[in-house]
Amino acid sequence: MLELSKPSEPEQTGDADVRPTDPMIEFTDVGKTYGDVVCLEGLDFTVPSGEFVSLIGPSGSGKTTVLRLLMTLERVSSGTIHVAGKPLSHMPKGKRMVPADEAHLRRARRSIGMVFQHFNLFPNMNVLRNITEGPVRALGRSKDVAEARALELLEMVGLSDKATARPTQLSGGQQQRVAIARALAMDPEVLLLDEVTSALDPELVTGVLHLLRDIAATTGITFLCVTHEMRFAREVSDRVMMLDRGRIAEEGPAEQIFTDPREPRTREFLQAVLDRD
Ligand SMILES: Nc1ncnc2c1ncn2[C@@H]1O[C@H](COP(=O)(O)OP(=O)(O)OP(=O)(O)O)[C@@H](O)[C@H]1O
Ligand SMILES: [Mg+2]
Repeated sequence: MLELSKPSEPEQTGDADVRPTDPMIEFTDVGKTYGDVVCLEGLDFTVPSGEFVSLIGPSGSGKTTVLRLLMTLERVSSGTIHVAGKPLSHMPKGKRMVPADEAHLRRARRSIGMVFQHFNLFPNMNVLRNITEGPVRALGRSKDVAEARALELLEMVGLSDKATARPTQLSGGQQQRVAIARALAMDPEVLLLDEVTSALDPELVTGVLHLLRDIAATTGITFLCVTHEMRFAREVSDRVMMLDRGRIAEEGPAEQIFTDPREPRTREFLQAVLDRD
């Protein structure tokens, strides 16, 4: 059984615009352009608290961009994003909403964790410090508390014996487990996953996917997961969203999307992916 503490209570900011009954993630008419390139357009979707939602779609359809907007690594060009009922992309100023400033983004980012395709561990720090760095620096935890928690998380991901190893001394699958532990150490309410197994050797993929499945099953964390692992998406997801050219082409329960897709684009995409596997 996995031992995880509950996500921390949302900070009491006193904002009048907090809407606690709202979905965990809400995109409203979100657009993102890079110069002339339209990457996302009129994107509307919600993810209820505690759901596991997979985002599928062709290369270049905007999946990573959706996650990068949530991580506040990018800013929306139009529309708004709310996380846990609070505006992420914007903040109140008097009676108006204005684009969020850096301090607002930093605060908002705290409830969201992300695991990337290429692990992105800090190469110059050992495994333990990779996990404690965020809680100590961003959450103000003491080193002792952060280390005790990191050791619990390392046990959970099956790497108790690697606390003092450097990332370069680990296999890809082990590095990805550390990256997952590092994300969990921040007690996220939302965990974003971007093709977390696509850089791994095939024999390491299943272990990482099972770990994620167990975390999803035993915590209240809300997942938004970009994946090409269709079997995993089908098994674990509450819902699947198919993104095509920056818009949601289709969304529905995982079983329906995989057995009875309504949109020709979804059918074509699934056919192409399943043929390749
Ligand atoms: N920093 C950037 N500058 C310019 N264009 C960008 C930038 N980031 C993304 N894009 C463009 O936005 C579109 C969506 O990119 P994104 O990375 O979100 O796609 P994706 O669905 O994640 O694709 P893949 O499955 O290949 O990872 C692409 O056309 C891409 O070229
Ligand atoms: Mg991508």
